This record gives sequence, C-alpha cells and structure tokens, in this order.
Amino acid sequence: GAPIRIGVAGVGTVGAALVNMLQDQQDDVQKRFGRDIEVTAVCARSRSKDRGVDLSAVEWFDDPVQLAKSDSIDLYVELMGGEDGPALASIRAALEAGIPVVTANKALIAKHGVEIARLAEKYQTSFSFEAAVAGGIPVIKTLREGLGLARVQRVYGIMNGTCNYILTRMSNEDISFAACLKDAQELGYAEADPTFDIEGFDTAHKLAIVTSLCFGTEIAADEMFVEGITRIDQADIKVADDLGFNIKLLGVAQRTPDGIEQRVHPTLIPKTSTIAGIDGVLNAVALETNHVQELLMAGPGAGGDATAASVLADIFDSARGTLVPPLGMPVDELAPYKKAR
Ligand code: HSE
Repeated sequence: GAPIRIGVAGVGTVGAALVNMLQDQQDDVQKRFGRDIEVTAVCARSRSKDRGVDLSAVEWFDDPVQLAKSDSIDLYVELMGGEDGPALASIRAALEAGIPVVTANKALIAKHGVEIARLAEKYQTSFSFEAAVAGGIPVIKTLREGLGLARVQRVYGIMNGTCNYILTRMSNEDISFAACLKDAQELGYAEADPTFDIEGFDTAHKLAIVTSLCFGTEIAADEMFVEGITRIDQADIKVADDLGFNIKLLGVAQRTPDGIEQRVHPTLIPKTSTIAGIDGVLNAVALETNHVQELLMAGPGAGGDATAASVLADIFDSARGTLVPPLGMPVDELAPYKKAR
C-alpha cells in the first residue's frame, strides 16, 4: 500500500532519533509492517540547525496547527512539549481533522489528557502516549492491556531518568549536583526546563497518568504532594548508604480508606530491594494488584532512541488500528482522590 506519512512537530532529541530510526530501518519497517512509514513533514523552530538528521526531502511547516491538520499527513506526532499553547492547539486540530495523534508530552496529558481522549473518541481517531511515561518501557501498553480484572492496590516507581542519573552519580562519585545535571542535559535526558525534572514535577505528571490508568480515575496532577531532589546533598546520600539505603525519587499512588493517595518525594530504599538497584537513567514501575502480587517493569527512562522506540510502537499500533480506547472513561466511581497535604 501507499506509505504512511508522518508529520512531526518538534525535532529535538526524540524527534531526531525517530527520523533516523525510520530512515535507517526502512527495510525492516516494510518487513514487519508491510508498508513504508515515512516522516514527510516537520515543524521546528529552526530550519538550518544541524540535528544530525537528513530533512532535505521533507515539507516544512512554520505553524504546528497547519501541519497537524494538513492533508499531506496520515498521522501527527507532537514532540514540542509545553502543557498548553501550540502543542495543545495542534493536537486538537489533528483530532478534529480525524488525524491520529502520537505524543510524548506528559505535562500536556497530565493537564488535558481526558479532554483530548474524549476528542479522539468523538472524531473516531486515536490518541496515544506510550513515550510520555518511563521512556522506553512499555508501561502504558501494559497498564491499558495487561491488567485483566486485577484491582491495583499500589503503583510506584522511579519515573524520572534525570533525577535517577543525578542521584546514582552522586552516590558513586564525589561530584556536585550541578555537574551531574549538566551531564544529564548534554545526554538529552533532561526537560527543556530541567526544573521540571529536579523539582519532581515531571515525575508528578507521569504518576498522574499512571494513576488514572491503574485506578480508572480522572487525571489529577494537583492532588499530589511533590518534593524533588534539590535538597539532597552528598552528606544525605552518605548517611543513607551507611545505614543500608539508597535514595531514590519515587512517585507512589495507592488506595487508602480516604481515596487514592498520590505523592512524589525522595525515599530511602533498602539496598536489598530490587528497585534500589535501578540506577542511572533507568526507570522502574512497580505494580501491586490482588492478582499479581508484584510486577516490576524496568528499562531506560529517557534518551532519544529509547523514547523514539516508544513513539514508533504507538505509530505502529495506531496505523494498524490496534490501539485500545484511550483513557477518559473512568471506571472506578468509588475512587476519589485523597487531598494532598
Ligand atoms: N526528562 C525526562 C526524564 C525525560 O529525565 O525522565 C523522559 O520523560
């Protein structure tokens, strides 16, 4: 059949990795998928910037909204970031034009996910966001499709690669927080504004999405206690180490008699626990249900290739029409959120 034409808005670390992946493995795409998938249009701030990718044959757009609803694409990939603004406007425009959307934008989903999912349903198209949570780990797919009738009691994990990278390096080397953050930025792990990483907001966005999928509730990023890692220093890490603990930034959501409790904060993890050994840019998401006592998913949480691999998995699912309905249909009416204190 004709190739599937992808429009990408935002050609940063993830966008460039996606373009490269599709170009390098075009033969594999044909073999696995039966049709070509090509990035045929992009929207990015600068046309001249060297991104290490060949964009000579693509159509350029200055306005993501125009790209998103363009006749010349079959699927829209939003990788610009930002919880409102052009990212949101372009996603709405694509869905209203019946064009499926794939995004990695956790801040946007944490704020508008339910509205967007309902829009996708209204226009009978798809909206998917595997890359928004825990980079290369197929967490969203697992939660959407893998729970059966299980009732989740608790979900928790390390959901920010930048923070885990910083904490790991600070515990292994005599190195400052600032130097580690700078390296994380250079490796393409950190958000455009790294405050989101180190103050815990990025983890909060991801936890809010995961909570909604696990408990069948609306997304509520506001009903959450959030503390990042900026107050952790070498001395804290050393004391924890002496006592047999590693410090990890965790997001935790659990059922309590008062409702679903969500929180993000640095946590002392006994070194004997599996999650204590999840180091560097790795993330891990653990699930406790009545059917599966504990399930742990671990893998790269950030970085161009890992995240692009998740974007690509969504593109495949979307193009095949095998996506399960998006979030937006709360099933558990009895699960209000516990007020954050
Ligand atoms: N800044 C994020 C992180 C990228 O470090 O985990 C992946 O969402």
